[in-house]
Amino acid sequence: MADHDVVVVGGGGAGLRAAIAIVQAQPQLSVAVVSKVYPMRSHTVSAEGGAAAVIASDDSLDEHAYDTVSGSDWLCDQDAVEAFVAEAPRELLQLEHWGCPWSRQPDGEVAVRAFGGMKKMRTWFAADKTGFHLLHTLFQTSLRYPQIVRYDEWYVTKLLVDDAGVRGAVGLELAGGRIEAITGRAVVLCTGGCGRVFPFTTNGNIKTGDGMGLAYRAGAPLKDMEFVQYHPTGLPFTGILITEAARAEGGWLLNKDGYRYLQDYDLGTPSPTPVLRSMELGPRDRISQAFVHEQEKGNAVDTPYGPVVYLDLRHLGEEMIDAKLPFVRELCRQYERIDPVYELIPVRPVQHYMMGGVHTDIDGATGLSGLFAAGEVACVSINGANRLGSNSLPECLVFGRRAGIAAAEYAAANGAGRGVEAQVADERRRLEQDLLAHRNGRERIADVRADMQHTMEGSAGIFRDTESLLTGVERLGELRERFEKATLEDTSRTFNTELVAALELGFMLDVAETMVASALRREESRGAHQRTDFPRRDDARFLAHSLVTRGPGGAPHVEYLPVTITRWPPGERVYGR
Ligand code: FUM
Repeated sequence: MADHDVVVVGGGGAGLRAAIAIVQAQPQLSVAVVSKVYPMRSHTVSAEGGAAAVIASDDSLDEHAYDTVSGSDWLCDQDAVEAFVAEAPRELLQLEHWGCPWSRQPDGEVAVRAFGGMKKMRTWFAADKTGFHLLHTLFQTSLRYPQIVRYDEWYVTKLLVDDAGVRGAVGLELAGGRIEAITGRAVVLCTGGCGRVFPFTTNGNIKTGDGMGLAYRAGAPLKDMEFVQYHPTGLPFTGILITEAARAEGGWLLNKDGYRYLQDYDLGTPSPTPVLRSMELGPRDRISQAFVHEQEKGNAVDTPYGPVVYLDLRHLGEEMIDAKLPFVRELCRQYERIDPVYELIPVRPVQHYMMGGVHTDIDGATGLSGLFAAGEVACVSINGANRLGSNSLPECLVFGRRAGIAAAEYAAANGAGRGVEAQVADERRRLEQDLLAHRNGRERIADVRADMQHTMEGSAGIFRDTESLLTGVERLGELRERFEKATLEDTSRTFNTELVAALELGFMLDVAETMVASALRREESRGAHQRTDFPRRDDARFLAHSLVTRGPGGAPHVEYLPVTITRWPPGERVYGR
């Protein structure tokens, strides 16, 4: 058993920012950073396009806030958005001081680019490898603090909860199979999202909703789980992201006839006149939905990996692509064997981000005492029904820091936990006996997982309706039964990836059930949640967050919580002004 003051679960952007904030706020505290991968392999590393924060002289915090509120289809909490936009510039400058190589303009000023749904240029970038540089900067900064103790390649399977609240976690050491308690006075979940619940996603294999599942099983509510973001431009087959920056720098989306089809769709632009420059930079939800309609009209191109449209960068020229989009060129060459300087890039919408997550307040505190969350695992909420691209990296920083400071204060004021030994023993028994020793069914974990992913795509994808969602509920019930009977062929202790896959699948099934249950209850269309049987936004009934808890027997129980409106009453979503 290892004991610390605060246990941070996850070593990506939010987790490392939280850890640094904890030791800066309370240097006497010891912090465990427990991550199932080496921190530099966290999914933050794959973020490409940039991080939004006001810096230009023609921009303002109010405009960033308004774009975020409107982009969220008014489902965000405006107090959280106001704090976010105010603190984001400071965080990005802080990263600069820690060594982040932001791209510059010729005069030496920080360069900013346009991004979808943002009416001003406010997205800072490091070419198109922003996540890599941001994560590297945080990682090297974290190394300066001996109080931060890392548990790399440890997988957290359970939160430890006593009468006073959350007191640490049980971790499985992947290399050797040890199962140990890592205790603390507070826990901060920073485990990212759950894109792997879907079959086609930009998310790395590690994004399996672990933190959401841990919190949900421990009794903390999940919020707005019906809001799943599709990014309009993923590479077919792999789902690898082709950054929105490619469109921000002037790329076009073309249908099979070479036509910029977005001019035929309502992306929230105010006039009937097509806004040719900005239409590829409409909000992600609307552009992904337009793809489905274009496909239905027969204007997409069929490929072995599904229907695609094309992203055209050829007119941008080699010099510009190499300067600002080098990673896009590299990805296209390596994964599609094409060169975007001369050829069209096949793309299709791909699951990218979860707006929903563990319900927290503005300081990352969840509904459970001693449990905090930040980053994609959390729902503060600044993203509401649709996140604007480039708001998530600063969200990791702003709310990672806030959650870290709040957890540090909590840990400093509260004593050590009591009576968690029995829970640790129970968990050890579950992993060693129930999972490793007594599995001899015929189902394979990989098959159940694949069926879950296809079930989710069919029932809760870009468009949903009552029938598809009810089918989802039924199939997920069957999948849970199959999962309980699935077998593990690998019973070893050393890097047992099949055991980890089983544990991840358990969390994903929990999370999938909450998504479908929340989507079924929300009888309206808002942002990324499009119900074909309820096509309108319904503020009278649903200007509210869904909150889902684990009910009796394990079934999800959905309630609603009012949205916080401070200065921007609900209105129409308008872009391209
Ligand atoms: O397209 C992108 O670079 C994605 C950015 C984001 O999701 O924030």
